[in-house]
Amino acid sequence: MAQADRIIIFDTTLRDGEQSPGASMNIEEKIRIAQQLERLNVDVMEAGFPIASDGDFEAVKKVAQTVKTAQVAGLSRSNNMDIDRAWDALKYAGERGRIHTFIATSDIHMQYKLKMSEQQVLDTAVAAVKRAAGYTPNVEFSAEDAVRTRLPFLAKVIKAVIEAGATTVNIPDTVGYTIPSEYSEIIHYLKEHVSNIDKAIISVHCHNDLGLAVANSLAAVQAGARQVECTINGIGERAGNCSLEEVVMTLKTRQDILPFETDVITEHITPTSKLLSNITGILVQPNKAIVGANAFAHEAGIHQHGVLMEKTTYEIMTPESVGLTQNKLVLGKHSGRHAFIDRLKQLGHDLTREEIEKAFVRFKTLADMKKEIFDEDLDAIIADEVLRV
Ligand code: KIV
Ligand code: ZN
Repeated sequence: MAQADRIIIFDTTLRDGEQSPGASMNIEEKIRIAQQLERLNVDVMEAGFPIASDGDFEAVKKVAQTVKTAQVAGLSRSNNMDIDRAWDALKYAGERGRIHTFIATSDIHMQYKLKMSEQQVLDTAVAAVKRAAGYTPNVEFSAEDAVRTRLPFLAKVIKAVIEAGATTVNIPDTVGYTIPSEYSEIIHYLKEHVSNIDKAIISVHCHNDLGLAVANSLAAVQAGARQVECTINGIGERAGNCSLEEVVMTLKTRQDILPFETDVITEHITPTSKLLSNITGILVQPNKAIVGANAFAHEAGIHQHGVLMEKTTYEIMTPESVGLTQNKLVLGKHSGRHAFIDRLKQLGHDLTREEIEKAFVRFKTLADMKKEIFDEDLDAIIADEVLRV
């Protein structure tokens, strides 16, 4: 089998993720997340936006000083002050420091936000990349709102910034507007129309306004992107960013049609998700893929019977692979005898068939009144219904 292409995982939990309302973190919290991201083995972590505040500058500097293996990126707009400030914080990471500079390229942003012409934006982008390249060869350029940019202009900008020294070119879906087939066409267009595109890594950065961030990122990978920008639990501006755990586990689970690999140590996914949630106070919805409380929980009797016989009937990845110790069979009104008996055995109740039947009737009655039946409920049923006879 041909060797799988490697996808660079660029985690931006500490920068774009932190832009999530209510997610701001102090330096000590950022360091804890950075150390956990290093255990997770992401390739690049974007630690912040050094010009944004003194606190953010200090946090990026501290992350750059602390992290030992991952590359550390800092964001800057396309101006000298931002870039100089970014490098002042990043230089402690040495050759692992990455300046990530950006400017918007869509008509709507150029006209209303930047009030700049195409030529001005092009010149500004090139000058910014040249300045950043004076500090480090590790320069990423992002064409903000790339997805709503006229493609010939986008191609022109990307070609020029690669000539100026960008080694990663990011094509963000800043407002979560695209769909997979369109995003794929954009990447194909750039590969065809940017003559020096092979000199840089194509990166994707998707927001989740239409719930398509992961699907779009995967479509871009299939079209030739080799870096995915993402966040833990998918936190980020508005509806969030592409979720790291979803994109990584999709690549791992669907090797048959997505022959790409990452270096992420997936067993660290759940602890990382929990740490972020504890630090920010932002809870993960129970049905969230991979890290939601119900992601490996089964309530329906048919499903519970299936996984008790053979886990792969209803589990496409193992709970252990994302750092859980086991799946969860939730006892409720949809549960059947198999899961009920299994749980009784786990609780140490060795009952006769007749006792089980009596207890099962009581269990179903209770389950109609209560959302979930806990172990204590079962113990009480057994004590009351069975043991007293
Ligand atoms: O969404 C976006 O366009 C960004 C850029 C700064 C990369 O976050
Ligand atoms: Zn973003």
